[in-house]
Amino acid sequence: MRQLDAQGAFEHPWMRAAFRDVPRDAFAPDTVWVWHPDDDRYHPVARADDDQRWAALVHHPTEPVVTQVDDGRPVHADGTGRLPTSSLSAADAVLTTLAATDPAPGSRVLHIGTGTGYDSALLCERVGHANLTTVEIDRTLADAARARLLGLGYRPHVVCADGERGHAPGAPYDRVLCTASLSRVPAAWIAQSAPGARIVTPWKSTLQPAGLAVLTVGADRRVAGGRFGMPLTFMDLRGQRRTDNPLPRVYTPQRWAESRSSTSPSRRASSTTSMPASPSASSCPVSTRPVRPHLMPPPPGGCPRTLPGPTCAPGRRTSGATATWPPRPSGRTRGGWRRAARRCSTSA
Ligand SMILES: C[S@@+](CC[C@H](N)C(=O)[O-])C[C@H]1O[C@@H](n2cnc3c(N)ncnc32)[C@H](O)[C@@H]1O
Repeated sequence: MRQLDAQGAFEHPWMRAAFRDVPRDAFAPDTVWVWHPDDDRYHPVARADDDQRWAALVHHPTEPVVTQVDDGRPVHADGTGRLPTSSLSAADAVLTTLAATDPAPGSRVLHIGTGTGYDSALLCERVGHANLTTVEIDRTLADAARARLLGLGYRPHVVCADGERGHAPGAPYDRVLCTASLSRVPAAWIAQSAPGARIVTPWKSTLQPAGLAVLTVGADRRVAGGRFGMPLTFMDLRGQRRTDNPLPRVYTPQRWAESRSSTSPSRRASSTTSMPASPSASSCPVSTRPVRPHLMPPPPGGCPRTLPGPTCAPGRRTSGATATWPPRPSGRTRGGWRRAARRCSTSA
């Protein structure tokens, strides 16, 4: 909580109280999953085997914990997984989306992507459980989340369904919060919102791989408009999973280096000082730490490890710039989600 406080993550007082009162670890399953860069697979970490490691993963303030792989059926014969499909979202990402949603007490909220149920509990603290409908597409996850919530005394309406259709019986909603990424906002969410309602959802496109859309629904409930702001990455909505992103193949580090050295002499001079292209260069400005292919299914033939940019010796880390894919967390600063849009990157 201290680190989140220092980052200014508690933009509204109710968020601090809710965060304090809802036990995050009560929403984590006994087995979580950790990506191993050496074999590019997700391996289980069982609480019973390593309680301390499990707790460190669950309580990390800026990292999500993968709670399901391959839609609940790990694809590899040894029980390891390929694609993360649900998570306990990173605490700072949860707070970012809650701050952007900012429901009032009594607001009617539609939440898509229940996952573990953690952010549903936080929302219950604010709006009251009778006002929250939370939709999860995966039956096992929905049942587990409902049981956890009930166990702590929260009784929101937990629906197992495709959240892209919204949930008409609970409409109209004052807030729609989606905690999975999309590139197309479903029309149903707009139609089921009250005029002036707010829709908050992680959003991405091929050229903009991470963002948070904060939209206001029009009076006629046919359109919604607003800002597509800060870099924020979540797992994709099941129906909008992208099987590939061509960018890392088109702009390889090699092509980047070539393009830098084949331009004008002055450009060439600056590129050799600021952008060492050799893996053994000693003054590398960026990190190539292993990247979890966390949020996007790998393309056929493997998962791209780096975004276009210079390469450098493995293990070197610097803050700020990153050559990772998807963008890695870089922290959050005081000043709320609007101002954080300029500098915050986090993942869930
Ligand atoms: C990043 S996880 C959300 C985690 C949640 N914020 C938490 O901390 O527990 C995204 C969740 O969205 C769910 N999901 C994906 N597509 C969905 C859809 N079309 N409708 C409802 N839920 C969906 C996934 O099964 C997954 O559990």
